[in-house]
Amino acid sequence: MKYFTTTSNVSRRAADCVIVGVYKRGKLGTGAADIDAASKGFLRGLIKSGDISGEPGRVAVLTAVPGVKATRVAVVGLGKTGEMNAAGFRKAVATATRAIAHTKAKQVLNALTLEPVANCDAYYLARHTVETISESLYRFDQMKSGRKSPAMPLHTIGLAVLKSGDAKKAARGAAHGDGIAAGVSLAKDLGNLPANVCTPTYLARVAKNLASGNGKLTTRVLSEAEMKKLGMGSLLSVTAGAVEPAKLIVMHYKGAGSEQPVVLVGKGVTFDTGGISLKPGVGMDEMKFDMCGAASVIGAMATISKLKLPINVTVVVPAVENMPSGTATRPGDIVKSMSGQTIEVLNTDAEGRLILCDALTYSRRFKPAAIIDVATLTGACVVALGNHRCAIYSNNDSLREELFGAGNAAEDLGWPMPMGEPYAAQLKSNFADMANIGGSGGGSVTAACFLGKFTDGMVWGHLDIAGVAWKSGVEKGASGRPVSLLTEFLLARAGALP
Ligand code: BES
Ligand code: MN
Ligand code: ZN
Repeated sequence: MKYFTTTSNVSRRAADCVIVGVYKRGKLGTGAADIDAASKGFLRGLIKSGDISGEPGRVAVLTAVPGVKATRVAVVGLGKTGEMNAAGFRKAVATATRAIAHTKAKQVLNALTLEPVANCDAYYLARHTVETISESLYRFDQMKSGRKSPAMPLHTIGLAVLKSGDAKKAARGAAHGDGIAAGVSLAKDLGNLPANVCTPTYLARVAKNLASGNGKLTTRVLSEAEMKKLGMGSLLSVTAGAVEPAKLIVMHYKGAGSEQPVVLVGKGVTFDTGGISLKPGVGMDEMKFDMCGAASVIGAMATISKLKLPINVTVVVPAVENMPSGTATRPGDIVKSMSGQTIEVLNTDAEGRLILCDALTYSRRFKPAAIIDVATLTGACVVALGNHRCAIYSNNDSLREELFGAGNAAEDLGWPMPMGEPYAAQLKSNFADMANIGGSGGGSVTAACFLGKFTDGMVWGHLDIAGVAWKSGVEKGASGRPVSLLTEFLLARAGALP
């Protein structure tokens, strides 16, 4: 995507479409007021007739507006005056984009960036615009044989700014938004691909391809034999029933000298049947999304290498398929993790933590400045927080705050969660150092506590993204979350925010 900024009156700019907004009770936004003046009250007339409304979600696409250079004017509802926040802004941009998605518009100028939006400066408004337009244009039809939905020709986004001093911020925000959109789109593609295509081997190939021809990025893939040598008995117990070989994918991005890296670990269960503790059949197809943690950290890696951030980041993805078979791990089996701690596998469906614990132990060798794992870990997390916010856990108060703040700034929300005793005590086993499930109650918390037993001495954070990684129902599909949250976190660490 290309982008430009402009301080000129939007009525006088040539564009295939200009996006303006009106508030409830008929107040015109800055761009709309300009269009209305240039067209001698055309918009006010349409407000009177009810064709234009300030209701969020409403949109009218006008053509041949008198006195206006743009071919189309998309007028969207912005809600009550003075109450717009980042979510409302993104919703308005998405509404306008969807309304023109079937047209031949190649270039769109967003004038909503002239509106006041809570906690958003020109940088974030530009970034939200580019992210939202790219996300609204996303299609996944590579598996369809017939007629595919036509790709929208839109390739250039204009950002209206109030003063020339904002232009630089907006340009930076647009560049970052473009990088994030690329990572989000990759994460969505990986999530949406079926498990018979997106296998551990496929994920490893994608990671290798990202690194090829990129001087700052390297990828190494460990085989099951290598994992066995490392003593990863916990990870390997999950793949015991599968025919697809497991992979441990390790990516290094070196954007800054010798400083310690941020390590991102992503759960890569390419399909989760539950294993011998088999899941019910209804909706099981959605367990192809159980590698969305992996997709998000690979997506974030694609973003930061595209943006050439001055930071060191390492990605570790344990990739496995969780299948039942004669060779699968049984409930009650005891396995030895790479850390030396033994685990009683009381439920083979609590497999995410079994692969993550060995990936976390393995990551110690990189001496992380901070290590953050991302996982579609528990159904209990969906019960706790629904589909809006991911759960944020940490053994370090300031890291938890940092992740929470990153989610808020990126409009990719999370919520801080508790850990420690007495939750951790729920993992006691009569036969091994710990059990892999914590019994009834607090399932997302006890899962985090399990991982916490492998992160002593590291500054560690954990995002349970079970509720936010994909949508179910008619809109079924991967969301690309939390690529934006992770990128925001890394942008801040790299000192790359304005
Ligand atoms: N991948 C699932 C978690 C999940 C379930 C994510 C539904 C999104 C929607 C995970 O591997 C799992 O099966 N967890 C179990 C844990 C339980 C056995 C303690 C769960 O949540 O039911
Ligand atoms: Mn499971
Ligand atoms: Zn799972």
